[in-house]
Amino acid sequence: MYAVGDVLHSPLRIGGATVRNRLYRAPVLEGAGDGDDAVEHYSRAFVPNAESGVGLIIQGSSCIWAEGRTSPGMTCVDSAAKAMRLAPMVKQVHDAGAAIFIQLGHGGIYSMEAWHEPYASRRERPILAASKPPWFIRPQFRGVPVTVMSTDEVKAMAERYGEVSGWAREAGYDGVQLGSANAKLLDQFLSPFYNRRRDEFGGSIEKRASVLRLIRQAVARYAGDDFPCTVKLPAEVAPPGMPRAKPAEVLRLAKLVEEWGFDAVTPVEVSVFPDTTLSRGDAPDNLTTNKAMASRLRTAAPTRLRRATIKAGYWWGGKRAPFSPVWNRHLFTAVKHAVSIPVFAVGGIRTADEVNEILDDGHADMVGIGRPFYAESALAAKILGADPGPMLCRNSNRCVPAQMLGMPGVCYNPEVNKLARSGS
Ligand SMILES: Cc1cc2nc3c(=O)[nH]c(=O)nc-3n(C[C@H](O)[C@H](O)[C@H](O)COP(=O)(O)O)c2cc1C
Repeated sequence: MYAVGDVLHSPLRIGGATVRNRLYRAPVLEGAGDGDDAVEHYSRAFVPNAESGVGLIIQGSSCIWAEGRTSPGMTCVDSAAKAMRLAPMVKQVHDAGAAIFIQLGHGGIYSMEAWHEPYASRRERPILAASKPPWFIRPQFRGVPVTVMSTDEVKAMAERYGEVSGWAREAGYDGVQLGSANAKLLDQFLSPFYNRRRDEFGGSIEKRASVLRLIRQAVARYAGDDFPCTVKLPAEVAPPGMPRAKPAEVLRLAKLVEEWGFDAVTPVEVSVFPDTTLSRGDAPDNLTTNKAMASRLRTAAPTRLRRATIKAGYWWGGKRAPFSPVWNRHLFTAVKHAVSIPVFAVGGIRTADEVNEILDDGHADMVGIGRPFYAESALAAKILGADPGPMLCRNSNRCVPAQMLGMPGVCYNPEVNKLARSGS
């Protein structure tokens, strides 16, 4: 007979790695950058998570090339040396008993070299795209040198994912997750909203996704067959009449990536735009109320029009995608029925009861929590312990613009911080 919590506390094998329990820290950015102090930033965030019992940490999107970060605080792992610099942090996480994956990504047309003025003005290479931006958003790209990747360039990118995964393994990471949702470059290949290619990487879902197959092969070549390679699977929300990846396609995609040797999947419902659909909650108000943020925004987007577009995006995200508990449940449950590799749940999971219900009902194999870790570094103890209190995160999304502007990955909600300080 199983008791509540037995599954949560049981280990799970993911490819060649074993994690000690079923709770993971979902990838959220730390604003650690890639300077000499990046390792300290990550250690400060991750070691307390590991010490409080989390099974797996997924480090937020880290860029495979020097250009292609979506915000200034994102880490680049574009050389073996930069990856190796993170090795001491990885070791500390291991010493505290947790496993750690690194999410690898590239922003494609949403790279900050396309929109963040100081970076755009000194960009050295064109902005990479799966296809020309759809007409709907083309005005935003006026004057931006967008380059549609050739077939050979796509193959070279797959090779690059492999190479960086090899470095990640050398640095001690236990696996990688591909940043293939949230309108990032790989999502721009998967999504019919963006991908209108006529070569082997465009057309049916099989063809749009085939870049993932090449990446999987490259990861095995550079990092070893047993090095876990996992992937996010986006089901998309788009304006009426616009093409998008529908949930049925995500089920097909899940089966394909299982066939291609991926070790786990994370299905998520996201917008075709890089907005707060990925982190449902309020429209963040601190772009106006927080002086440091308002000033960073003015630097990033000197024109009123651009600032207004960014703020309108947040406002619309808050209206269209308010917080709703466990909002990806329908998706991860359906995917769990379709594949036999581990399925990772994420999105609005806030109580120990929700975590245990998902696991005990067999709706997913790992349960992830994102934003609440900004507010409470020892959050895992609440979920894993016998006496779980309520999580402090209020889904205000005030952490989102902070990340976009390269600020540290912490909670920016003063009310939540007050509660955290008072130990409630
Ligand atoms: C500030 C911020 C940064 C994020 N960065 C990433 C990222 O780098 N990669 C990714 O796949 N998801 C990212 N996410 C999405 C989270 O992993 C997670 O799916 C989302 O926040 C929903 O989970 P939650 O309700 O527990 O926060 C980010 C979310 C936030 C709020």
